[in-house]
Amino acid sequence: MAFIHKLTTTLLAIIVSFLLLTTHSYAQSNPPPKNKYWEAYFKAKLRDPPTGFIVDGLNAIQQNSPNKIALDLGCGVGHETLQLLQRGYQVVAVDSQAEAFEYMKQQPNILQYQGNLRTIVSTFEKLPFSELPQVDLVIASFALPFMKTQDFNPTWQKIVEKIKPGGYFIGNFFAPDFSFFAEKFRSHMTFHSKAEAMALLNGFEIVGFQEVNVPGTKPGTMNHYYVFMGKKR
Ligand SMILES: C[S@@+](CC[C@H](N)C(=O)[O-])C[C@H]1O[C@@H](n2cnc3c(N)ncnc32)[C@H](O)[C@@H]1O
Repeated sequence: MAFIHKLTTTLLAIIVSFLLLTTHSYAQSNPPPKNKYWEAYFKAKLRDPPTGFIVDGLNAIQQNSPNKIALDLGCGVGHETLQLLQRGYQVVAVDSQAEAFEYMKQQPNILQYQGNLRTIVSTFEKLPFSELPQVDLVIASFALPFMKTQDFNPTWQKIVEKIKPGGYFIGNFFAPDFSFFAEKFRSHMTFHSKAEAMALLNGFEIVGFQEVNVPGTKPGTMNHYYVFMGKKR
């Protein structure tokens, strides 16, 4: 009898945990439809390590505190979200693809942090910024360039406004010759020259900058991007 009780309680706990991570605090009314390219990306990425420049940036900040709030924009399968949770942040994780969060819950041990995790299915462009708290940190790993050019600046402005003075941005922007993407994708994306990317960080003290230009996984392509870590003035 005791065994059956324990088994039932455990099963209930597992079900509740899974429900919590699939019940998003906000879902855009018309989010973009399921995208086969992102789906394939999530599958391929699930067991990869977190993005190196995000981990390096987090190690440099060392602002571990249960009271710090971080926003993970374009969280994907949640490698970086997990890093934030493990460092004690309360995390708001945003992705336009609901499937991303299905993969995220497969991250080892992530469910133990679910009390500190708020998930939002939304594009960056339609994110209800006014309903979000001011944050200590925004991370965006290979994410913000997936906005159309006309949407980029207004959305970036709202992102910057969300960061508290003294808070950080860690993320990357793509150079115009980041050649991995076919034209049909590029027309929905934003690319920046180095000077343009630098200008985005105008209100920040730049505490880390790296220009990366490496061969892409598709033969003949280059992944050329700028990584920034900025501290908001
Ligand atoms: C290249 S993946 C990066 C995922 C993760 N940050 C990483 O570094 O592995 C880009 C992510 O941004 C999401 N995304 C793309 N465009 C978006 C948009 N306009 N608004 C919100 N999320 C978007 C995709 O669904 C995907 O999860």
